[in-house]
Amino acid sequence: DAADIGVTGMAVMGSNLARNLARNGFKVAIHNRSVGKTEAVIAEHGTDGEFFPSESMEDFVGSLQKPRVAIIMVKAGGPTDAVIDELSSLMDEGDIIVDAGNALFTDTRRREAALREKGQHFVGAGVSGGEEGALNGPSIMPGGTKESYDRLGPMFETIAAKAEDGKPCCTHVGADGAGHFVKMVHNGIEYADMQVISEAYDMMSKALGMDADAIGDVFEEWNKGDLESFLIEITATVLHHKDATTGEPFVDVVLDQAAQKGTGAWTVKTALDLGVPVTGIAEATFARSISGGTPQREAARGVLVGEEQQLEIADPKQFIDDLQKALYAAKLVSYSQGFDEIAKGADEYGWDITLGDMAAIWREGCIIRARFLDRITEAYDRNPGLSLLLSDEYFSTEIAKCIPAWRRIVAFAASTGCPVPVFASTLSYYDSVRAERLPAALVQAQRDYFGAHTYQRVDAEGTFHVEWTEDRRETKQD
Ligand code: 6PG
Repeated sequence: DAADIGVTGMAVMGSNLARNLARNGFKVAIHNRSVGKTEAVIAEHGTDGEFFPSESMEDFVGSLQKPRVAIIMVKAGGPTDAVIDELSSLMDEGDIIVDAGNALFTDTRRREAALREKGQHFVGAGVSGGEEGALNGPSIMPGGTKESYDRLGPMFETIAAKAEDGKPCCTHVGADGAGHFVKMVHNGIEYADMQVISEAYDMMSKALGMDADAIGDVFEEWNKGDLESFLIEITATVLHHKDATTGEPFVDVVLDQAAQKGTGAWTVKTALDLGVPVTGIAEATFARSISGGTPQREAARGVLVGEEQQLEIADPKQFIDDLQKALYAAKLVSYSQGFDEIAKGADEYGWDITLGDMAAIWREGCIIRARFLDRITEAYDRNPGLSLLLSDEYFSTEIAKCIPAWRRIVAFAASTGCPVPVFASTLSYYDSVRAERLPAALVQAQRDYFGAHTYQRVDAEGTFHVEWTEDRRETKQD
């Protein structure tokens, strides 16, 4: 008698994943560096299914059916490397190690290559949905070899969330680090979604003077339309929540400094390396940094003047309707940018990623689950080679309906001094990407002036340079 699969790392995410597997009829070996946690899982949740608790890594590996599958759910970085080394030394060729934590995809690529040398499989699997998702059905994004997916896929698809059409929110994303790459971008989009929702909240609070409860009602309403999503839903719940100590709206007693564990920043850094403009995600990530930059905020507060205009809002209902449209438009842009990054990453690293499937496995289980993801899948089904999600007929039509509102919101925010980094940057992106002509021409000219970096012409083939400091003669480069 042997376990179908094992999980090491019995913190909440690891134990919930193990329990989910057990509840679905798999025999699950469990292990934790300190035995107490393993014992606690058995004591509290032993009836969830068939567990094989192990005190040592040797026993843990020994209890697994071959080819073995061991999931690691420990801290990213050093701790993950240590557990991989230990597991791998106890395992055989053909065995599979899965890292289900949030790892940087380049680490995953390095680890996969190292294990491949030994004939073992290393799978970086993105798992989204928080603690609740891990237990009741997450969205799972596994990378690694096809062969490893043959063994793993059926188990993961069983425990994953199911979309409305019954399909599991799990698919083989692509080779080596593809799964963690896609999970990284998922988190970047999560950052953008959260920030733009917060900007809408801020505008309702500052421009309309609405209290948290009333704003919560608006989000509840929005959750019945195109914006329907987990993040909008929990926003309504959070805004309706009252602080137990003071009785005040909970959001009003929370310190306004947003933390981050790094996945948003990874998305942005990677995008910079790949040259993909994920401006919504970047602004959302920087917005967290601004909020946490206490000395700078201290220095600016009361010193930097706003010169805000006091603008009348004649029709609050119309203003809220504008906000809803602006939110939808900004969201479409950040998803389009995120998918750009996935496409570029796939190109760069040779991953065969089906973009529409990524939207499909995000429909349930994960933090950015939303109604409109179906539309993204449909867009890529219509045209798998779509180079800009926004240019798909459905999305271009949808966003067109939002534009006047989107502009009114950004203009209002600028005039009244309300910071809206995601609303504004996504609108700028939209106007940039659709522009007939960009001022990049001037940038090229400047570059040519001070660095002889050359330029191309609108009316002739080839590469040119002007002898700026001499006779300003144009020369053709070869
Ligand atoms: C998920 C979440 C999860 C986690 C993030 C939060 O998909 O389930 O994204 O991975 O909550 O790490 O990240 P920050 O702490 O950076 O906000």
